[in-house]
Amino acid sequence: MAIIGTDIVCVKTLLEKGEVVGIPTETVYGLAGNAFDDDAVLKIFKVKNRPQFDPLIVHTDSITKIPSFVSYFPAKAQQLAQRFWPGPLTLLLPKTDAISDLVTSGLSSVAVRIPNHPLTLELLASLPFPLAAPSANPFGYISPTSALHVDKQLGKKIPYILDGGASQIGIESTIVGFEGETTIVYRLGGTAVEAIEEVVGPVEVLAHSTSNPQAPGMLKSHYSPRKPLFIEHFDKISAQYPPESIGALTFQTFVSNIPTENQRILSVSGDYSEAAKHLFAYMRQLDNLPVEVIYAELLPEKNLGRAINDRIRRASVRE
Ligand code: TXA
Ligand code: MG
Repeated sequence: MAIIGTDIVCVKTLLEKGEVVGIPTETVYGLAGNAFDDDAVLKIFKVKNRPQFDPLIVHTDSITKIPSFVSYFPAKAQQLAQRFWPGPLTLLLPKTDAISDLVTSGLSSVAVRIPNHPLTLELLASLPFPLAAPSANPFGYISPTSALHVDKQLGKKIPYILDGGASQIGIESTIVGFEGETTIVYRLGGTAVEAIEEVVGPVEVLAHSTSNPQAPGMLKSHYSPRKPLFIEHFDKISAQYPPESIGALTFQTFVSNIPTENQRILSVSGDYSEAAKHLFAYMRQLDNLPVEVIYAELLPEKNLGRAINDRIRRASVRE
């Protein structure tokens, strides 16, 4: 098992030797390695069992370090960076040669973000290189929001997990790119679309599961529990399964007829941020209960409700 602790100097030494480690961020925990070292980057893909065509986000602590790996930082991107960094926003920007094709899977843009977590910012400030880091879960499973989640699934494969407590945002960063004058959201996440539009005006949302909710078969299965997860139509599920074999994930209130110990409420007061913070931990808890299926309710399609629904929809896709 990995060491779980808060020794930044030890983590720095491991990273300088080309190791990969678990790091906390405000969104989810990352599996981090030196973004300038191809061997470390390859190790990330291997530990996560991630296909190499799925590129990685590069994390840094300061905008002043970005020109070493980004060749052009458009005005709109700078406005978003000023407003939301450090925070749950990732920007797609043209890369320099310092970033290898392994990190970007051959794409000419690199995904960049300044995460908002004191331990990780301190670590990044002490390093002479940025950190490439995907979420620290095996490919396809629910993202980790605590050091223990990382340890359960990847602990045997990595030497250290930096423990920064529970992730405060709880869902991954919003990914934003630019095509000419158009701002495009490629993944819904911890920064709401409404907040982005306040800074740069209307955006195009290309994130799959919201642009095409009518065709769930088209969605890529992701963020998935092992148990089948069904959205809505509770009546159909309760006709098929006995009440004690159903788990439920709801927004504000319990579902009647199934035991309350099999239920998780995301936010009794209807707070989207609180719901996001609980989402993945509750999905894991339901997955580990002695139930056969999970019923999940969707939230209103606004604010972080959009990103939460995106994750719930993807979790419902079976391959
Ligand atoms: O909040 C987050 O973004 C977390 C924390 C650890 O920072 N990271 C995260 O990484 O969610 P990951 O690898 O699980 O998801 C990154 C997503 C992938 O869907 C990938 O396809 C996309 O970002 N991505 C990365 N680089 C890209 C690029 N150059 N162009 C387009 N998409 C990219
Ligand atoms: Mg991920």
